[in-house]
Order: sequence, then structure tokens, then C-alpha cells
Amino acid sequence: MNKALLLMLFMVFYNGASSNGIGVGATATTARPEVVNIGAIFTFDSVIGKIAKLAIALAVEDVNSDPENLNGTKLTLKMQNTKSSDFLGIIEALQFLENDTVAIIGPQFSATAHVISHIADELKVPLLSFAATDPTLSPTQFPFLVRTTRSDLFQMTAVADLVFYYEWRDVIAIYVNDDFGRNAIAALGDKLAEKRRKISYKVPLNPKATKDEITNALISVSSMESRILILHIYTSWGLQVLTEARNLMMMASGYVWIATDWFSTIIDTDPSLPFISTDDIQGVLTLKMYTPESEHKKKFKLRWSNLTSSRRVNGSSFGLNTYGLYAYDSVRHLAVALDSFFARGENISFSNDSNLNELGGRKLNLDALNMFNGGSQLLQSILEVNTTGLTRSIKFNPDGNLINPAFEVINVIGTGTRTIGYWSNSSGFSLDPPEKPQRKLQSNGSSTGIQRLYSVIWPGQTTQKPRGWVFPDNGRKLRLGVPNRVSYREFVRHRIHWLLH
Ligand SMILES: *[C@@H]1O[C@H](CO)[C@@H](O)[C@H](O)[C@H]1NC(C)=O
Ligand SMILES: *[C@@H]1O[C@H](CO)[C@@H](O)[C@H](O)[C@H]1NC(C)=O
Ligand SMILES: *[C@@H]1O[C@H](CO)[C@@H](O)[C@H](O)[C@H]1NC(C)=O
Ligand SMILES: *[C@@H]1O[C@H](CO)[C@@H](O)[C@H](O)[C@H]1NC(C)=O
Ligand SMILES: *[C@@H]1O[C@H](CO)[C@@H](O)[C@H](O)[C@H]1NC(C)=O
Ligand SMILES: *[C@@H]1O[C@H](CO)[C@@H](O)[C@H](O)[C@H]1NC(C)=O
Ligand SMILES: *[C@@H]1O[C@H](CO)[C@@H](O)[C@H](O)[C@H]1NC(C)=O
Ligand SMILES: *[C@@H]1O[C@H](CO)[C@@H](O)[C@H](O)[C@H]1NC(C)=O
Ligand SMILES: *[C@@H]1O[C@H](CO)[C@@H](O)[C@H](O)[C@H]1NC(C)=O
Repeated sequence: MNKALLLMLFMVFYNGASSNGIGVGATATTARPEVVNIGAIFTFDSVIGKIAKLAIALAVEDVNSDPENLNGTKLTLKMQNTKSSDFLGIIEALQFLENDTVAIIGPQFSATAHVISHIADELKVPLLSFAATDPTLSPTQFPFLVRTTRSDLFQMTAVADLVFYYEWRDVIAIYVNDDFGRNAIAALGDKLAEKRRKISYKVPLNPKATKDEITNALISVSSMESRILILHIYTSWGLQVLTEARNLMMMASGYVWIATDWFSTIIDTDPSLPFISTDDIQGVLTLKMYTPESEHKKKFKLRWSNLTSSRRVNGSSFGLNTYGLYAYDSVRHLAVALDSFFARGENISFSNDSNLNELGGRKLNLDALNMFNGGSQLLQSILEVNTTGLTRSIKFNPDGNLINPAFEVINVIGTGTRTIGYWSNSSGFSLDPPEKPQRKLQSNGSSTGIQRLYSVIWPGQTTQKPRGWVFPDNGRKLRLGVPNRVSYREFVRHRIHWLLH
């Protein structure tokens, strides 16, 4: 976002506001403060947001209930609902920065993260995002945005590895046309190119796609040669795409659907939802961020189901999804970082941002916005954290990614799912979870030589691996005045078959 727009926003929002910095202001003490203000911004009624809301609240409760954590200092959490609006996200971030907030959990959406990061950088307040997966949100460009979940770079590497493993040549990408979708699909394109594979057709969908837009997009897909469809969209309307695909007979044998983790997130949150009409989704492959089992996680899951069993309000289900685990860990992560921040003798104090003063802060009441003096030190503490949480290790490698990214590969079968294997950044596919000692890989008749995934039931209830392409319905070659199209096609098909085998 450019400076002029930022300035305009300040004017709109702060004109006439009379408040000045509330709280400690420039006065600071060496002793640990009684309370530390933290904020959280995300979309409360989304599949990811409603789970994160409870998880974050539980995490703050847990941090505060044990004085060991922060040596008596308590976290005071304020949550704000961005309602999927980047604009509200900006306004809410500014409100937090008026109230001496040292860090913000969120935002949820990658597009919002792009704009809010500028504010966080300027006022030195770290953002810990548990759900912004856009690979381009890098620490070099957005130093104060800390990604406390997995980058889609790794998810897309796993997808490209799947395409390579099954020996398909090219794929069709159906995705949301915003930062989240475009940048992930760009990463997929790069990863496929490394393996001499490619995206042959891209289908960007409006972030608020209508039924007609989805149908038209799918019709264009069905006339293409590739039958390998990568679906990287939002939880809010992802299932609708699969339903429309079924209506267009695109869930039939020959098709391959690889849905990114939006789909496994829905299954985790509301296990009954996708299976209402099971025909829609048979044979779909999906990925899920992998977090190892642990005592800590098992206990938390029990506590979660105890808390949420009576919460099936408004037909909404509260199954714990992986983003919920990352949201919980983001708060713990921050608490551990704050503890080491204080242990190093740092204190919490705020001052005016001289850049804003130069803009004529007084007139615009920009002085209400405070810069966190210890912001860079707190950021440093956050990046140095080395601890364990519900998702296992909370630790960054030098490029700002949580260590050991891994995914589960899941196949939808009947009214349930089956894990057919795992992918990890360090060792690729495996039948066992990445941290387990790997069994000796046995040579198998398949052309890759080694079985690294259990067999899949593909759309059309077949175990035979789809070859991944067909002759396009409206392919130009087939229209070149050949009198008997069908027999010509048969002829070419046989020729090509012969050539390939
Ligand atoms: C707070 O920390 C800053 C360095 O970040 C230091 O200059 C200042 O003296 C400290 N204030 C108090 C009261 O300790
Ligand atoms: C924790 O608090 C106690 C009492 O307030 C204080 O004596 C002690 O030095 C503190 N420990 C750390 C690591 O700050
Ligand atoms: C900021 O502080 C004021 C006064 O304590 C409070 O009314 C307001 O709700 C706070 N805003 C946020 C976003 O925390
Ligand atoms: C479930 O909740 C009830 C009451 O809220 C509590 O008594 C019980 O110990 C809880 N069980 C578990 C496993 O947390
Ligand atoms: C249920 O729906 C009502 C009205 O739509 C809303 O006010 C309430 O907050 C909802 N409850 C939950 C738990 O989502
Ligand atoms: C910020 O600057 C204004 C005047 O521009 C002043 O009134 C206010 O006290 C300053 N706040 C801090 C925290 O230094
Ligand atoms: C992180 O913690 C683990 C276990 O506590 C330890 O083995 C490892 O050396 C630590 N790594 C760093 C870089 O401090
Ligand atoms: C992923 O693997 C690459 C290549 O082995 C390595 O350079 C990178 O640091 C790994 N990333 C993470 C987050 O572990
Ligand atoms: C190779 O693996 C497949 C399952 O993917 C299995 O059906 C087949 O029997 C295996 N072949 C050999 C030679 O082990």
C-alpha cells in the first residue's frame, strides 16, 4: 500500500478523534509489568476463525493460569473481527496500536497480511499469523510479519511431488484470484518446472465466486486435455466447486482432483459436512499440515471435545482443525518470547513515530498511534524461540519458516478418509510419519521403483492410476476437415498409444 493511501486512511479514521496515547506512554519501568496488551484480528465466523477464536482464548487462559510462564505478568487479549475485510483489518490494527499493544495474533488472510504488515513494520509491532500461507509473505519484505504456520511453498512442493510421483505431465490449476491463490499457484508452477512438468491451464476464480462463475470455469476445464485438477481455494465455497464438478460429470473416472488443505480443514472442523452427498467427493486427494501426536496434543484434544460437545449451535460444528493448533501455539510462542524479552532486561515503552509527526501528526491526531520502542527486540525474541507446543516444535530456521514442514496425504473414500502417506521437506513421500524411523523401502514393480504411498481409490471407484489426459473436445487438430472424426480420433488414439508403449 502506498504512503498516500495510508495517510488517507489515517485521516478518515482519526480526524476528530481526540484521544492521545493511553497507557504507559513513555514511562517505563525495569520491573516486569503486571499486564501486557496483545491483540488478535481474524474473521470470527469463518471455518478457520471460529476454531482459532476458542484456541487463542484457551491459550491465553493457560499462559495466565501458570505464573511460571511470565513470572506473574498477565496477558490481556483483545480480539477483533475483520469479517473478511482488508479495510476493517487495517482499522482494527490501528486501534490496537493506539492502545499500547505489543503484538498482534493474526491476520488470518494473506491479502490482509500484505496491507497490515506495512503498519506493523512502521510502528514495530510484531504480527504472528497462524493462517496467512502466501509464500511471498517473506521476512525480507515484511520483517514484522511472523508466519506461525506453514508456507504454501511447502504445500505446493508436495503437490508437485505428487504429480511427479504419479508421472503426470501437466495439470490445471483452479484457484482464488488474490494474493493467497495467485502466489501459491506461481510457486506450484516453479516447483513443477523444476521437475519438467507444467500448469497447462490456469483458472483464476473471483474471491467471492458465484455459482455461474464456478460452472463456467469448470466447463472450460472439461474441454481441456489435462485431467489433473489442482484446487486451491477458500473453505467458504470450496465444497460448492466440487458439487458443481459432480453435476458436470467431472467426478467421474479419468479425473484426478487434488484439493489443498482447505478441504482437510473442512473435514476436521465438521466431519459430517463434506459427506452429506458423498458422490461429490469420492476419490479426491487432499493435503493436511502434519503435526506429530504427543501427550500434550492428546490432552488438549480431550479438553477441546469436552468444551465443544455442547457447542453445536446454529448447526455449526467445532472440530479442532490444524489452524486451531497453530493459533494456540502462536500465543504460547509469544509468551515464551516475552519471557525472554523481559529476562534480557528489556522493558515495554512506546513513543511517537517521528515519521508520522513529519506528516503533520497533530492535525491528523496521528500522535494517538504509538511506536513500540522494544519492538525489534521482541521480534528478535520471537524468532529465537525454541520450544514445543501442540504442533510439536516451535522454532524457525534462518529463512523464517517453522522447521520441518510436513503434510499428510489423504484420500476420500466412502464416508471417510484414509491417510495414504506423508510428505516432508527433508525426505519427500513416506508411508510412515516423518519422525518415525523409516521402514526399508521396498522395490516395487511401479516405474518409480519404490512404493512411497499406499494405493489410492480414484474418482470412479477405480484403483487404476488415471493417465491424466484425454483428447480435448474442441482441440484444433481434430477439427481439421477430417470427415469421420470419431474414427480419426480412434486412429490417432491407437497410434499414440502405440507410440507411448
Ligand atoms: C527501557 O529500555 C530501554 C532500551 O530498550 C532503555 O534505554 C531504558 O533505560 C529502559 N527504561 C527503564 C526505565 O529501564
Ligand atoms: C520473578 O519475580 C520475582 C518476584 O517478583 C523476582 O524476584 C524474580 O527476580 C523474577 N524472575 C525473573 C526471571 O525475572
Ligand atoms: C482502546 O482503549 C480504550 C480505552 O481503554 C477502549 O475503550 C478501546 O476499546 C480500546 N480499543 C482496542 C481496540 O482495544
Ligand atoms: C469435562 O468437563 C467437565 C465439566 O465441565 C469436567 O468435570 C470434566 O473433568 C471434563 N473432562 C475432561 C476430560 O476434561
Ligand atoms: C447463532 O446465530 C445467532 C443469530 O444468527 C447469533 O447471534 C449467535 O451468535 C450464533 N451463535 C453462535 C455460537 O455462533
Ligand atoms: C507524542 O507527541 C505528542 C505531541 O506531538 C505529545 O503530546 C505526546 O505526549 C507524545 N507521546 C509520547 C508517548 O511521547
Ligand atoms: C532447541 O531445543 C532443543 C531441545 O530443547 C535442543 O536440543 C536444541 O539444541 C535447541 N536448539 C537451539 C538452536 O538452541
Ligand atoms: C526445506 O528443504 C530445503 C532443501 O533441503 C532446505 O534448504 C530448507 O531449509 C528446508 N526448509 C525448512 C523450513 O525446513
Ligand atoms: C507394488 O505395489 C502395489 C500397490 O501399490 C501392489 O499391489 C503390488 O503387488 C506391488 N508389486 C510388487 C512387485 O511388490
